[in-house]
Amino acid sequence: MVSSVEIYPDKAALVARAAELTAAQLRAAIATRGQARLALAGGSTPKPIYAALAQLELPWSQLHIFWGDERYVPADHADSNQRMARAAWLDQVPIPAANLHPMPTSAGDPAADAAQHEAELRAHFQVAAGSVPQFDLILLGLGDDGHTASLFPHTEVLAERDRLVAVGSKDGQPRLTFTVPLLNQARGVIFLVSGANKQDALQAVLAEQGDANQYPARLVQPQGELWWLLDAAAAAKVEQVN
Ligand code: 6PG
Repeated sequence: MVSSVEIYPDKAALVARAAELTAAQLRAAIATRGQARLALAGGSTPKPIYAALAQLELPWSQLHIFWGDERYVPADHADSNQRMARAAWLDQVPIPAANLHPMPTSAGDPAADAAQHEAELRAHFQVAAGSVPQFDLILLGLGDDGHTASLFPHTEVLAERDRLVAVGSKDGQPRLTFTVPLLNQARGVIFLVSGANKQDALQAVLAEQGDANQYPARLVQPQGELWWLLDAAAAAKVEQVN
């Protein structure tokens, strides 16, 4: 794993860099392999990044979009990560509908929907049980408690090593999430972290030693490249390593 930490003076600079790096990674994947598979982060930080990506021209028919986690709500619910990304980006560009692969949340059974999405992933990537699909790029956020995707502190899903998609839980609310093996198979992972409220979690996640059960983002050690894109407010307690 090659890891780098980049600190930007403010969120606008972080957003610009995140959009530029994401587009560059997608274009490189398409140039090399004929297609790019990207998994999106949810929450609020990525929203302006998706809006910036909506201003760029990308080879839409060769780009496939997934989500790294999803709240267990209908797709049109205000809390839906799918809804947020469509509104900020995907409904504004000519990407084929078939290239969008949202996590299903309509079975009334999170485990069944997680299994269905895992089957869709395996079919899309054409990998059988026992192998792990390799995303070109996965975007992730960081919670102020050190969670990422829907891998929350001290939850069972942190130990999941067989499934690709499983059921996470935030305060008892079910969420679907990529598991650690799927995240770590990625060719590239970009963490997007903005705001002073993330300072302590970020310091604990980037520290040499620490408890991954308490700070689950520590579990993300992709076999490919790992970028930490931070604004100065979030990075105030992080010593610049390079
Ligand atoms: C979600 C995200 C989650 C998010 C962090 C940070 O579904 O909410 O996947 O992991 O990235 O909670 O959220 P903010 O960007 O809103 O701070």
